[in-house]
Amino acid sequence: MTETTTSGGGRPSLPMQGVPQPSRDEVLNLPRVHISSHPVMAHKMTALRDKNTQPPEFYRLVKEIGALLAYEATATLALETVPIETPMGPMIGERLAGGIGVTPILRAGLGLAEGFREVIPDAQIWHLGLRRDEQTLEAMEYYNQLPHRVDLQVCYAVDPMLATGGSAIDAINVLKRRAIPRLCYVGIIAAPYCLLRLSQTHPDIEIYIATLDESLNDVGYILPGLGDAGDRQFGTF
Ligand code: PRP
Ligand code: URA
Repeated sequence: MTETTTSGGGRPSLPMQGVPQPSRDEVLNLPRVHISSHPVMAHKMTALRDKNTQPPEFYRLVKEIGALLAYEATATLALETVPIETPMGPMIGERLAGGIGVTPILRAGLGLAEGFREVIPDAQIWHLGLRRDEQTLEAMEYYNQLPHRVDLQVCYAVDPMLATGGSAIDAINVLKRRAIPRLCYVGIIAAPYCLLRLSQTHPDIEIYIATLDESLNDVGYILPGLGDAGDRQFGTF
């Protein structure tokens, strides 16, 4: 977790101090927000949050949770029919209609994207680097490998932590400059503050999360949360 540094006057910088936040109940029924209710997800979430879970195990769990989220978030994808031959004869099968894009928000989104690839190996991976300034909590773009030729039915932006929503809103702004018919945001833990901001700013996107937490602390970390998802995946404490 990034240390709280001091602002110019030597005063600790607490960007969320005094900022009003909605409660869980106020955001639970937002349209287009899907919160997992799967017991296996709840089980894995407890192991993920545990402060004694070390980076190799933490990364493995992020990947597994990514695969479960991929399974839930792809449940309404469009199919097209395709004639095939089984060893027994001809039949009409089905396949996904159009490509699938996955945009990991670097760097913490990398583990989630790996989980998506377990479920959809053909997915195109569009890397987008955003870094949250820990003083202002604003996201800054530092890397963009989004192709200009788009042949997708949907793109999933994936990032484990939806805290103030700055990174999520900016990521969707970037993706909306490509002509993608459907956009989804997928995360592991969301704060109510982020869900409200993201769904008000981008009411047309769908949001899939494993769980909804209580609030943000004064420096913009999710409570009870899991700490810093990037540091815990990659061992950079
Ligand atoms: C974390 C996290 C999100 C962002 C969430 O990334 O993975 O991208 O913060 O915060 P927000 O909702 O307030 O924008 P961070 O910027 O720490 O970078 P990292 O992935 O490299 O650790
Ligand atoms: N980023 C994280 O990794 N964790 C939080 O709680 C908030 C932002």
